[in-house]
Amino acid sequence: MRIISGSARGARLAPVPRGVRPTSDRVRESLFNALGQFFDGGSVLDLYAGTGALGIEAVSRGMERATFVEKASRAAASIRENLRRTGLEGRAEIRREGVARALDDLLEHGRTYNLIFMDPPYRIAAKEVEGVLSRLGVLLAPGGRVVVERGGAPEEVLLGEKGVTRRYGGTVVTVFDRSDFMINVAVCPGSFDPITVGHLDVIRRASGVFDHVVVAVGANRVKNPRLTPDGRRALVEKVTANLGNVSVEVMDGLLVEFARERGARVIVKGLRAVSDFNSEFEQAQLNQTLDAEVETMFIMASAKHSFLSSSAVREIASYGGDVSEFVPDEILETVMEAYAGTQADTEPRIKTESKG
Ligand code: PNS
Repeated sequence: MRIISGSARGARLAPVPRGVRPTSDRVRESLFNALGQFFDGGSVLDLYAGTGALGIEAVSRGMERATFVEKASRAAASIRENLRRTGLEGRAEIRREGVARALDDLLEHGRTYNLIFMDPPYRIAAKEVEGVLSRLGVLLAPGGRVVVERGGAPEEVLLGEKGVTRRYGGTVVTVFDRSDFMINVAVCPGSFDPITVGHLDVIRRASGVFDHVVVAVGANRVKNPRLTPDGRRALVEKVTANLGNVSVEVMDGLLVEFARERGARVIVKGLRAVSDFNSEFEQAQLNQTLDAEVETMFIMASAKHSFLSSSAVREIASYGGDVSEFVPDEILETVMEAYAGTQADTEPRIKTESKG
């Protein structure tokens, strides 16, 4: 593999480490030709960077700086070696961490990029790709582009069929510009301790209204939930697996910040009965004070879920009662096991909670 054009033209790249699937020289050349005269200054972000060939090619062609995100140590070492071979190490930063964590940090620091490459390993689920993609709009500078590379014949549609897709042999490349990210993203927050069929109904209905829904599983240190945030996230992921435009993340911080970082302007919550109103009104007003641009909208619970709550599920399951009507089938067994025998700490919490 070689750098095709620019200041490092002809530089031979290090051997590709095992487990990394690099973009071939031919695809890289066609892709950069398609991007045209794009590389005059600015910065590039290379996600799931592998050998770093895409980001290095962009800097070689005139971009000012590159950030590479790569978790695997062998691949990160090959990026370092390739930067050395091309003499571009002074214009690059390598972040050895997962993409979600890197995005959290970049967004928190208000970083923006003119070009973002995303070449996820094929084993990464389409939903995760869509979840990462939905966050990139906020990172794009005006006039910026996002380039997503996928293999074979991907069935999933990205960002509601937006972007320009080209096929190069077995590789499919889609280029998005900033306007493609002006999609309606909503955040559906909750403790989900555990998720119930009522929550799922609200998430499903929201997914029919918005282009993308991010379910935010609150880390909720105060409420002292039975399952860890990751445990609750895993259950929500399992029951929403068939909803293509829904992704699930743990939220450890303020809801309005979480929403802003994901480009979401709407918080969607379910409302069951008048008894929910006070606390929801209070939260909506607090959130509006914190960020007036994020709107809270409510989806009314279906009548059959009016009296369903996570706390009721916890209590019934703690006595070994039947909660099969209240939680989705796929997670019933896990919920019964996880919440069995928790009476002692469940009871006081039910008395003090107005909701949950
Ligand atoms: O299902 P729940 O318990 O009603 O969900 C509560 C949740 C997660 C929505 C709420 O605790 C929350 O928004 N947490 C994030 C912290 C925050 O932003 N607090 C200020 C606004 S209330």
